[in-house]
Amino acid sequence: MSDLQYARVLFAGPDLEQGSFAELFCRELADLRGAETLDDVVDVTAGPAPLWQRVRECLALGELPLLVLDVDPQTSSPQLDWLRSELHRIAQEYEAADQLFVASPREASSAASACELIDQPQRHLDCADVPSLPETHAWSHIPRHTYRVLACAGPRCVRRGALPLWKLLRANLKAAGRLECDGGAHITRTQCQFPCDQGPTLSVYPGGRWYRIANEEDVVCLVNEVLIAGGEVPNLIQKEG
Ligand code: FES
Repeated sequence: MSDLQYARVLFAGPDLEQGSFAELFCRELADLRGAETLDDVVDVTAGPAPLWQRVRECLALGELPLLVLDVDPQTSSPQLDWLRSELHRIAQEYEAADQLFVASPREASSAASACELIDQPQRHLDCADVPSLPETHAWSHIPRHTYRVLACAGPRCVRRGALPLWKLLRANLKAAGRLECDGGAHITRTQCQFPCDQGPTLSVYPGGRWYRIANEEDVVCLVNEVLIAGGEVPNLIQKEG
């Protein structure tokens, strides 16, 4: 299928509305395909809702076939499968399930690479018969764990030295065979958890305790006493109120 056979081509990805990446991508796209093409750029930084809305508008107007170019630099095979299955679900509402196509350029940050892809139908995927989630893929499962550790990577905790401490935490858990396994801990970095003045802040569930982990000794103590021994370290717990 060539470019001319698509009634509409949408460029969907994060950071396409503002910032340096958006500026470069949109400038290049306008040079290649005209300024009016910028109306077909959909920013999904805050989630996919704007894309679903735009696709629904195309379907309602009969702008078919429709090609959606996923220009997310972080995209992956499961991400593309998810996108195709969601588009398939939406297209079915309009009885147009065989009219939607998806493609992902090799160099997502380049508008030229995305535009070249429009004329490479052998690299377009339809949205029917999408493979189901692979059973064995790590991203298809909740990781094994006993503790969930929420490590703050907010601006004030970072200034207080949080990041090297969280790296050390991961390394120590891994060395002890307690990272992402039964009986072990799964670490998630978070935005500000709010008690910044007591930070670097780290919360552990179950239990929901909030800790101040200020140095390497505190990391070692948390790993050994809390995450391995299942005990408590009262002097690391943040103050209430
Ligand atoms: S920045 Fe970490 S608790 Fe606010």
